[in-house]
Amino acid sequence: MTSSALRAQSLTRVFRTRGTSHRLALDAIDLDLPRGQVHGLLGPNGAGKTTLCRIACTVLTPSGGTVEVLGHDVVSDADEVRRRVGIVFGGDRGLYGRLSARENLQFWCAMHGVPRRATAARIDELLERLGLASRATDLVETFSRGMKQRLHLARGLVADPPLLLLDEPTIGMDPVSALEFRTLVAELRAEGRTVLLTTHDMAEAQALCDTVTFIDDGRIVGSGTPGSLRALQAEGGVRVRIHGLGTEAHSTLVSHLPDDIVGEHDPATGCTDLVVDTRAAPAVVAEALRLGHVEVTTGPPTLQDVYLRLLGHRDGTDRGMAV
Ligand SMILES: Nc1ncnc2c1ncn2[C@@H]1O[C@H](COP(=O)(O)OP(=O)(O)OP(=O)(O)O)[C@@H](O)[C@H]1O
Ligand SMILES: [Mg+2]
Repeated sequence: MTSSALRAQSLTRVFRTRGTSHRLALDAIDLDLPRGQVHGLLGPNGAGKTTLCRIACTVLTPSGGTVEVLGHDVVSDADEVRRRVGIVFGGDRGLYGRLSARENLQFWCAMHGVPRRATAARIDELLERLGLASRATDLVETFSRGMKQRLHLARGLVADPPLLLLDEPTIGMDPVSALEFRTLVAELRAEGRTVLLTTHDMAEAQALCDTVTFIDDGRIVGSGTPGSLRALQAEGGVRVRIHGLGTEAHSTLVSHLPDDIVGEHDPATGCTDLVVDTRAAPAVVAEALRLGHVEVTTGPPTLQDVYLRLLGHRDGTDRGMAV
């Protein structure tokens, strides 16, 4: 039995766009994800994460290369793959609004060939597990976004799959539900399942993933355990966060620091993050204080810092490469 849950070799996917132009969404991806772990697939919009998930669940076919799920080829052995994969996409797709939560799950149990006598108990268990038991008979169109997202998760689990593909599963979840989701993923892992998780939430990835793979423009740009990537990022460095800065104050601060220190400013939180050499950190903190910024925190680099170093040049737009 192969120890790989998902293995991609030279995986390429080209989309035909308008006219004769093409878009290279995945460019010779090599990936080997061991069983029983949580793997993060991280990268900016348009990087190719959903395309990879769609190929792994047989919805799309590769343009080149191969993908095996638990030893089964996604093209020549698609039925075997479908039996072993649960898929959860973010958003509203795939749920029937005019049916109740229970009816939606009954439909998906039938689709996945869950034996009739096991269906009711399976659905009860899932509704309970996802905190939807009290809304089981309500129409899904009356559900909030986060509730629909939890129903998506239940749907992904109906066939008891050994591999779960979770594509931005916490979109729209409130903070408490998102925390409960982390507990659920830990439970799924403890049950021996493999999880491939795509998320833009680096704190979530850092908390949940055994390994992460960063992709950009269809290519892998980094991979490893969150710990090893953070250690690499640190290389004796420290993360300094200065709070309560507007864009102008951020520019002023950076102009007072040595040229080789690059600061990332988040206008939404008013925080500037810098990863600096340990020896340089006291001077940076002193400069921030001198400029009147008294809320300064330090700590080890985070996965967010790793992301910014690898992909910080991106502006968030979909620049999928035309070929
Ligand atoms: N059906 C399609 N037809 C044409 N191009 C497509 C299609 N699906 C995806 N693409 C392109 O492939 C590239 C990868 O898209 P994909 O949806 O895999 O990105 P993603 O990493 O999931 O992004 P996001 O974080 O925004 O969900 C993008 O350039 C996208 O425009
Ligand atoms: Mg996507």
